[in-house]
Amino acid sequence: MRVLGIETTCDETAASVVQLKAGGGGTILSNVVHSQIAEHAAYGGVVPEIAARAHVELLDNLVRRALEAADVAFAELDGIAAAAGPGLIGGVMVGLTTGKALALAGGKPFMAINHLEAHALTARLTDGVEFPYLLLLVSGGHTQLIAVRGVGQYTRIGSTVDDAIGEAFDKVAKMLDLPYPGGPQVEKAAMEGDPARFDLPRPMLRRPGADFSLSGLKTAVRLEIEKLGHTPRPGEVADLCASFQAAVVDVIGDRTRAGLRLFREQFGPPRALVVAGGVAANTAIRHALTRLSTQTGVKLMVPPAQLCTDNGAMIAWAGLERLQLGLTDGMDFAPRPRWPLDASATPLHNGKA
Ligand code: KG4
Ligand code: ZN
Repeated sequence: MRVLGIETTCDETAASVVQLKAGGGGTILSNVVHSQIAEHAAYGGVVPEIAARAHVELLDNLVRRALEAADVAFAELDGIAAAAGPGLIGGVMVGLTTGKALALAGGKPFMAINHLEAHALTARLTDGVEFPYLLLLVSGGHTQLIAVRGVGQYTRIGSTVDDAIGEAFDKVAKMLDLPYPGGPQVEKAAMEGDPARFDLPRPMLRRPGADFSLSGLKTAVRLEIEKLGHTPRPGEVADLCASFQAAVVDVIGDRTRAGLRLFREQFGPPRALVVAGGVAANTAIRHALTRLSTQTGVKLMVPPAQLCTDNGAMIAWAGLERLQLGLTDGMDFAPRPRWPLDASATPLHNGKA
């Protein structure tokens, strides 16, 4: 069974063909990603209109390349999957409409995929992880702890009440005049810095529940910069980055530990702690999670970096999982800029559900 997956919810245009592997998991036959970083760099962040136009220009060719690289003819596909949200509406419309058109033209089943569900199921593509497990999703748009109990069965255990962690990294980088995207730059600068130089807050530490808050930490960094009274010098930039990163590491460790505890109380022992999203590339954060895994005895799984960030293979895989269960969608499926995985959870006012 083979499915084509299309991803256009943010600033990556991506297409991929994934095939079901006998005995569990999947084989990625192709995974073509065009990251629009260059298109948005001058603005210090993703510009929705520019992203939507770039998806229009790039997607047809990317789909063609994904089929060629997989050496699969269109007729040999068993289904088409496209991310239908949550994300920037213009981009979502481009991918969803293209996916529907291909499915209609080829008379193939169509699967409208929740982008967050695709992140949540990626560890099953790469490692065949069994349900239930705890997902820590940390990207530029999302910061959530989700109990993944089965396909379509998700319980939100924790979430940011304001900024996403990647967003906080990007905003701190911007304050320090580091280029976009800021996460890797902050991490690089932090390597040379003193994490104890600035005493920054650890928002939500040891609070009941497993929610995150990042905006107070971001503001604290701004206040430290103002206190300096001058543009931070390279040594100060390094110390600010190191102090900020140390605070984030503490917060992630504490909140994920709380998440594991809540998971156990509600669903029994998790089979794994799965980490996804661009922030999972951060070495200090990975180390903290490895320590947590050793202490709690819960296996840590971090899919390879190119599958942690946005890609088409995760959409194709979620499509395969759903197709196997007969969960297909009609041509009337509308794009969803907001689409929480756990519909029963209290809505988040920041739109980051
Ligand atoms: O998952 P992703 O590629 O895109 C979405 O946001 O959907 O994540 C990108 C985010 C950006 O905010 C970027 O700054 C952050 O992940 N990031 C990092 C690192 N690499 C990427 N944050 C901290 N440390 C890193 N090494
Ligand atoms: Zn994503």
